[in-house]
Amino acid sequence: MLILGIETSCDETSAAVVEETGNVDRPWTVRSNVVASQIPIHREWGGVVPELASRQHIRDICGVVERALEDAGAAWTDLGAMAVTQGPGLVGSLLVGVAFAKASAAAAGLPLVAVHHLAGHIESLVLENGELPLPAVVLVVSGGHTSLYLVREAGHYELLSRTRDDAAGEAYDKVAKLLGLGYPGGPVIDRLAARGNDRAVPLPTTRLTHADRNAPTLKGDLDFSFSGLKTAVLRYVRARDSEKGVRPLFPAGEKGVVPLFTESEIADVCASFQRVVVTVLIDRLFDAARRYQAKGVGIAGGVSANSRLRAELQQYGRSREMPTFLPSLGLSTDNAAMIAAAGLRKFRAGITAPDDLNADASLTL
Ligand code: KG4
Ligand code: ZN
Repeated sequence: MLILGIETSCDETSAAVVEETGNVDRPWTVRSNVVASQIPIHREWGGVVPELASRQHIRDICGVVERALEDAGAAWTDLGAMAVTQGPGLVGSLLVGVAFAKASAAAAGLPLVAVHHLAGHIESLVLENGELPLPAVVLVVSGGHTSLYLVREAGHYELLSRTRDDAAGEAYDKVAKLLGLGYPGGPVIDRLAARGNDRAVPLPTTRLTHADRNAPTLKGDLDFSFSGLKTAVLRYVRARDSEKGVRPLFPAGEKGVVPLFTESEIADVCASFQRVVVTVLIDRLFDAARRYQAKGVGIAGGVSANSRLRAELQQYGRSREMPTFLPSLGLSTDNAAMIAAAGLRKFRAGITAPDDLNADASLTL
């Protein structure tokens, strides 16, 4: 069976066709996965502008879906179901996908499945690696989320912890912004960090020990916090520019601008920041794995594209004889193939969306 997935939760319009294989260990394969990124549009503004995002989704959605069907060599009549991201995300963006999916599923007479965006990221691991050894602990780390999930049973996700403030990807984006490196911050910091000294700038790691009043059902000691780290980078930069305040530092040597930092100093800040983020993520992930006697650990979401995070996950896994799972780079950031996969799992469990399905910006998992 073929399922068409649609994802429009943030700044990527994506459609994908995923096929059910009938193989229990490797249940799905990607037939097509088309992603129209809006990054060049939002870069100008230093971050995602919700209204521009929804308008661009409207422009792109039809073409992206047609292309996904064409790449898969499939017609509407070959499909057995559709899946769409219901939330969480930007409500205007989500609405475009949900409205398109409801209308086209009704027109084509297809069942529709509503998918949680983070369930999609978790299932991106299964798309390429096959079913995870269970129980598994999965870290979903993106621009909007940093959460640990325990998967005891395929398709059931138990929240173990989350960030109390900024998501890791958000911290990357904010630090890049204050260094004048542009949007999105993750890929550029990742690239510059490779050339820097990761011990050059002393930055704090945060370990939370107290319960979170806002999440009384969670123990709290596996939680994350990145806003202090971001502020520490800000203070470091300000200390260098105590008179004029923070201003863009890059490209260094722009006409009339005396750069505060040399390129190699910027690389040092990036490397030091990245070391702390990766250390904290890996530490908490393996801590959870130990506590819940996991048979495998995975990392998914946009930040799982990070080169240091990928390398350290694999290295830690090897030294602890723990199987590790990562999506390929194309499936790390937002895409519809993962939504189709999570949709197929729900569809096979007999769960479809009601006719009055609506987007939910703060949908919980
Ligand atoms: O999953 P995603 O595409 O969208 C959300 O659901 O948020 O994640 C986007 C986030 C951005 O914050 C971006 O800076 C970050 O992922 N990111 C990275 C890298 N590539 C993307 N962060 C660190 N290193 C990277 N290589
Ligand atoms: Zn995402």
